[in-house]
Amino acid sequence: CGIVGYIGKRQAAPILMAGLNRLEYRGYDSAGIAIAAKGALKIAKRKGRVRELDELKPLRFKGTSGIAHTRWATNGEPSDRNAHPHSDSTGRYAVVHNGIIENAAALRAQLAAQGTTFSSDTDTEVIAHLVALMDDGSPLEAVVSAVLKLVVGTYGIAVMDAERPDVLVVARNGSPVMLGLGDKETLFASDASALVRHATSVVHLDDGEIAVVRADGYETRKLDGTSTVKTPSAMIWKDESYDKGAFDHYMRKEIADQPEALRRTLSGRLEPRFQTTHLGGITLTARELLDVRRIRILGCGAAYIAGALGAHLIEQLARIPCQAEAASEFRYRNPVIEMDTLYIAVSQSGETFDTLAAVQEVKRKGGRVMGIVNVVGSTIARECGQGIYLHAGPEIAVVSTKTFTCSVVAMALLAVHLGRLRDLSNANGARLLRALDALPDRVAAILEREDEIARLAEFFQGAEHAFYVGRSAGYAIAMEGALKLKEISYLHAEAYPASELKHGPLALVTPETPTVIVLPRDDLLAKNVSTIEEVKARGGPVIAITHPGETHAPFDRSFEVPALEPELDPLLLNIPLQLLAYHVARQRGCDIDKPRNLAKSVTVE
Ligand code: G6P
Repeated sequence: CGIVGYIGKRQAAPILMAGLNRLEYRGYDSAGIAIAAKGALKIAKRKGRVRELDELKPLRFKGTSGIAHTRWATNGEPSDRNAHPHSDSTGRYAVVHNGIIENAAALRAQLAAQGTTFSSDTDTEVIAHLVALMDDGSPLEAVVSAVLKLVVGTYGIAVMDAERPDVLVVARNGSPVMLGLGDKETLFASDASALVRHATSVVHLDDGEIAVVRADGYETRKLDGTSTVKTPSAMIWKDESYDKGAFDHYMRKEIADQPEALRRTLSGRLEPRFQTTHLGGITLTARELLDVRRIRILGCGAAYIAGALGAHLIEQLARIPCQAEAASEFRYRNPVIEMDTLYIAVSQSGETFDTLAAVQEVKRKGGRVMGIVNVVGSTIARECGQGIYLHAGPEIAVVSTKTFTCSVVAMALLAVHLGRLRDLSNANGARLLRALDALPDRVAAILEREDEIARLAEFFQGAEHAFYVGRSAGYAIAMEGALKLKEISYLHAEAYPASELKHGPLALVTPETPTVIVLPRDDLLAKNVSTIEEVKARGGPVIAITHPGETHAPFDRSFEVPALEPELDPLLLNIPLQLLAYHVARQRGCDIDKPRNLAKSVTVE
């Protein structure tokens, strides 16, 4: 979900609607806006996209303060009545909320017993009623603090009162809220994308903080009333970096961005003089890094898969046992945290709740954790306190492309660094540095062959199921390729280790079930060729994503990527799979940037 608010000298509605358009990638089940004008609230909200909200003509609402919301439903189905903002029975207060109020049912029952009638199924509505009931004329932030003390759960929340249009109150507990400071205007949002146009600096709220926001500034405090002191940081992303440019989709733009994004990830980090990498954001000393006996990488979705590929790189180059695990699983299994293990959290947004919770679990048990994060100053980056920023620029398409690639490269930088502290030779260090340096141009060269990949996409016509297979690092790429395809084309794509296909899924291979094999020219080539033969013998069509050279494998179609170095080749083989998923989805007429049921960052459990 996304929240945005504005208070200042200009009309709030156009700024908030533009903010909602920016935030839409965070959730697009429903949207709504509330503006305070002349002692009353004007609210428009409805199920569907922000452009459908536009049809209710919210721009007619005049007023210089307001709040707005775009929703990814967690509590109550997507519908007009469940869309935010929510209001109390008199319509005086409005609330927008990200997160989940866990004791909502109990609070609802108490309120209902006192005669409150509800107009939605959401957990959020209880807050609006509680604010109305508990408003004793104290400052709005004191009333909201008192309400939030009754609430158990997570929230990024904003409250407005029609009778006090010169203040807005926001609070955070487990769901991001940041303030954007401008010239005689103050904004807030769950995500910088809605602030960049107007704010020159930002202030991130911490969990347990509440802020009262005015046109000319803000104050922050804890729920118990003690003041807190915040240091604003400069807004680093530019408004233009959120534009789609000449591309039809953000996903396509972000695929094309990869060479530039990679250059930024690599910038200043290659140290050819010592055949190693320089990672200034890591605070652990060389001695401490040498004492690391194991590494565990945590992330969700594509970030978890990037971690799986990163784990291969680290284990190969640094010879440290390394495994990736879904953060969402790790945090719930009471993990044993070992003092000689280094934990790495991978997250594009830096806000994924499950990943954050995993980091907190590691820290609570005394473990060491670093972040591989794109969004500077995000919650996971701040919670980790050290790590590697991707500097990939904003990623708007719900599916991750450039940040997947850049996360893997960040882990490659770490792998070389750790390797060179141990047994990786000067020559191998230098070889990998050269390969990393060449990577952006190699990616650019693959992108120039988009037409070939678009033709491969036709291979999926009539298919409802597909297998993606590979071995070792190639299996991680198969996982990523399959995830992209299912997310945006809605085809059922299953990733399998090529070696395991014969132990079960081969039963599902038919002439209507294409198999995509990730086929690097490594020492497992012959094994992968056997897998292709097994699939072909059952009549299954095969596409190989491979390197030039004769393989004597009976695949039907192939796409050849010039090999670079074996450690980085799997990452290069992923680039055609991104475009393949894109073109299959395009041919099927899918909503590529906003696939059904998904959201860019899931900031709830
Ligand atoms: C959501 C998105 C995925 C993304 C995952 C992790 O589920 O739909 O595309 O990979 O979150 O996001 P993060 O911001 O932590 O990398």
